[in-house]
Amino acid sequence: MLVLGLETSCDETGVALYDTGKGLLAEALHSQVDLHAVYGGVVPEIASRDHLRRLLPLIQQVLSDAGVERPDAIAYTAGPGLVGALMVGAGMANGLGLAWDCPVVPVHHMEGHLLAPMLEDDPPGYPFLALLVSGGHTMLVWVAELGDYTVLGTTLDDAVGEAFDKTAKLLGLGYPGGPALAELAETGDEAAFELPRPMVNRPGFDFSFSGLKTAVMLKVREAEASHNLEAVRADIAAVFQRTVVETLLARTLKAAREKAAERIVVAGGVGANRLLRAELKDRFEGAVHYPRLRYCTDNGAMIAVAGALRLADAGKPDTIHATARWSLEALAHPNGQPNGK
Ligand code: KG4
Ligand code: ZN
Repeated sequence: MLVLGLETSCDETGVALYDTGKGLLAEALHSQVDLHAVYGGVVPEIASRDHLRRLLPLIQQVLSDAGVERPDAIAYTAGPGLVGALMVGAGMANGLGLAWDCPVVPVHHMEGHLLAPMLEDDPPGYPFLALLVSGGHTMLVWVAELGDYTVLGTTLDDAVGEAFDKTAKLLGLGYPGGPALAELAETGDEAAFELPRPMVNRPGFDFSFSGLKTAVMLKVREAEASHNLEAVRADIAAVFQRTVVETLLARTLKAAREKAAERIVVAGGVGANRLLRAELKDRFEGAVHYPRLRYCTDNGAMIAVAGALRLADAGKPDTIHATARWSLEALAHPNGQPNGK
């Protein structure tokens, strides 16, 4: 089966064609980052309009690159995300599904991230612990099997990528600031001072990053007042990055111990962070799986592969699903059993 995947939940227009036998055949991605950079964050209306402009040409490009006229099924991100942006992909998927008379599969964006490592040559077996860390989410999920997800912890306030982006903004770096902050951190001293390590000693697996953000803001103000921000910017970036990585690791390793996890999957944009990768490799005895960098951030391939794994859920293009808020645990198992129970 050939599955066309469409991703339009936020600021990337992603399209990919996945063959259930041969794997990925073609993919294309358009990032809107430049459009939103001047505003310092994603502007929903601009995002929707740009998806509308880009989506059809990208689909034509992917089909032509693969030498395919039409797919056998279409998977699209149905949520969570910006509802106007989601509706562009949902409308396109259902319109094309009608025209091509093929089934349409609504996909949960975070399930796409969870299943992105299935695109690799050495995919993880079930069960696994997943750390989903992006601009919109921070989640620890126990994946018993496909469709059977237990959210162990989530963020009580900012997502970890958002904390990176906001801190980067305070340091005068561009948007999205995560990669720029990580680069700056390499030249700083991560032991220059200390920042609070939020929630590390609390029970459970939830995260919180807003206190850390405030602490960084005070540090930046202090440096500005004494006119030496330039001199300490790299140190602030390094201490911030180390603090965030230690917070993520403390929770993840604790969950791994509790679940006796043999493998961890790290996905989402922050999964690109080099320090996080290096520390996990050092400190977790089992296997750590990452989707390759371009499948860590939003893309069409993860939606295509998730759609392919969920073909049993495909329906006729009759209802357009676009859900801004949608729990990962509410997903039904593909065999029709909710969460495998
Ligand atoms: O998964 P993603 O592309 O989009 C969302 O669904 O949110 O994640 C984007 C986030 C941004 O906040 C970006 O700053 C962060 O991932 N990010 C990083 C790095 N690369 C991307 N954060 C820290 N270190 C990185 N190397
Ligand atoms: Zn994402």
